[in-house]
Amino acid sequence: MLALIGGTGAGQPANLQVTRRLVVRTPYGDPSGALTFGEVAGRPVVFIARHGYGHTIPPHLINYRANIWALTQQPVTHIVAIASVGGIRTDMGPGTLVIPDQIIDYTWGRKQTMFEVGEHPVTHVDFTEPYSGDLRSALLDAARQSRVSVVDGGTYACTQGPRLETAAEICRIQRDGGDMVGMTGMPEAVLAREVGVPYATLAVVSNWAAGQQDSQRGVVFSAASGVFEAAMMRANSVLEALV
Ligand code: HPA
Repeated sequence: MLALIGGTGAGQPANLQVTRRLVVRTPYGDPSGALTFGEVAGRPVVFIARHGYGHTIPPHLINYRANIWALTQQPVTHIVAIASVGGIRTDMGPGTLVIPDQIIDYTWGRKQTMFEVGEHPVTHVDFTEPYSGDLRSALLDAARQSRVSVVDGGTYACTQGPRLETAAEICRIQRDGGDMVGMTGMPEAVLAREVGVPYATLAVVSNWAAGQQDSQRGVVFSAASGVFEAAMMRANSVLEALV
């Protein structure tokens, strides 16, 4: 079964036929909310809203461990994360869909490992390729099938938030090789790696990052723009083809 983790502006997908909800407790505390089970295009899917169902949990307070753990207690085979990002690279303007292939982590103070509760020995997972290559390929195929254009690859820079970045921080991220910036990609990706579930991200660009292109005078970060909503609908078509 495919698991979807929804982000800002990616509430429960419109094309999800809900069948039931399940409250899960985990050794790491409570997930962001109940798991929502249902079907997309006749296939079973489980969904969780990363920021909670009323969008009340800021990026640095999300219980990433509980969310990933709760999903692994279900027969989940793959996790696709939907994430809104700010665009840095010139081909990543608002409304663009990107399937990133690398991560730089600028977050701090977040619980980064499952292996500190219970009797687990210290574990150093390989994270050279932070996203599943097979799942990325499947997403790219799904985009092709649904005639939705997506950017193949790019480095996702994860900042701490909840504030947006300064223009200088974005310049630094750009020099580091970051192509898009978001606040929730880590530690979600590494926790999925730790539990051994293939994970990939479908990023939806909601705005130019601070100081880029038209955002010199401030970032307008809104999930309620027409361009972003249209991009979310295209993202949903890709997910429909993927399942
Ligand atoms: N910065 C960080 N996270 C984001 C942004 C941004 O500009 N847009 C959407 N998520």
